[in-house]
Amino acid sequence: MTNIDPRPCVIEERLKNIKRVIAVTGWKGGIGKSVTACTLALLLARKGYKTGLFDLDFAGASDHLILGANGLFPKEEKGLEPPVHEGVKFMSVVFFSENKAVPLRGANVSDAIIELLAITQWGELDFLVLDMPPGINDAALDVMRFARKAEVLAVTTPSVLAHDVLARSLDLYKKLKVPVLGVIENMSAGGRKPKGALAVIRTDRGLEKALGRPVSLLKTRFAADLGRAVSGLF
Ligand SMILES: Nc1ncnc2c1ncn2[C@@H]1O[C@H](COP(=O)(O)OP(=O)(O)OP(=O)(O)O)[C@@H](O)[C@H]1O
Ligand SMILES: [Mg+2]
Repeated sequence: MTNIDPRPCVIEERLKNIKRVIAVTGWKGGIGKSVTACTLALLLARKGYKTGLFDLDFAGASDHLILGANGLFPKEEKGLEPPVHEGVKFMSVVFFSENKAVPLRGANVSDAIIELLAITQWGELDFLVLDMPPGINDAALDVMRFARKAEVLAVTTPSVLAHDVLARSLDLYKKLKVPVLGVIENMSAGGRKPKGALAVIRTDRGLEKALGRPVSLLKTRFAADLGRAVSGLF
């Protein structure tokens, strides 16, 4: 049977005016993907780049909390127009789940994500940062499949467990021919950069207090470390 799903073409069209799509991934949970994605989006916006951020984590969307983005909702305008928060066009699955657990699984999550990618009107952007869910499931693979421009910024921690998962993820991206911008080792005690990593981000005890306050977040040591880590990339 012929595949008549028009959404892949629509997604391509939607992402046409976005120069770069950066998917912040790392298959382990709780390693700092979301704080990295949010802080990266804020840093890029501060540099004057037109920036978007899309929280794709259906089970545990948290970017709205990290950014203190309350009371926002996309506008319907031939699709959905993301609200702007702190200079960042922000879209999140949480807008559609009203902060409740979403009882979607597998194919349904994929379907919802593809739908959102197809109907969101980002307009012209220099960067779209995607905050990816943990693990590598159908939804995550679909994002990579449909957002063909995506480049991966991988997050890991100093733990051998995270490094093991990271190695497997990098293998898969190679097979899928998804470019990997670099690997950031987060929650490091400092010291030397591990082999293959772009940079380390130190554990920052001040980060927790800055969550929900973008201006404070940008002043953290975490943001300074991340800024240094990505300065050569963009
Ligand atoms: N460098 C750091 N220093 C201190 N705390 C950190 C650091 N990086 C992340 N954290 C904290 O670790 C927790 C997990 O971070 P975050 O939610 O960004 O991880 P995640 O990988 O997105 O998790 P999930 O897999 O659930 O999506 C948060 O409370 C965050 O503030
Ligand atoms: Mg997260």
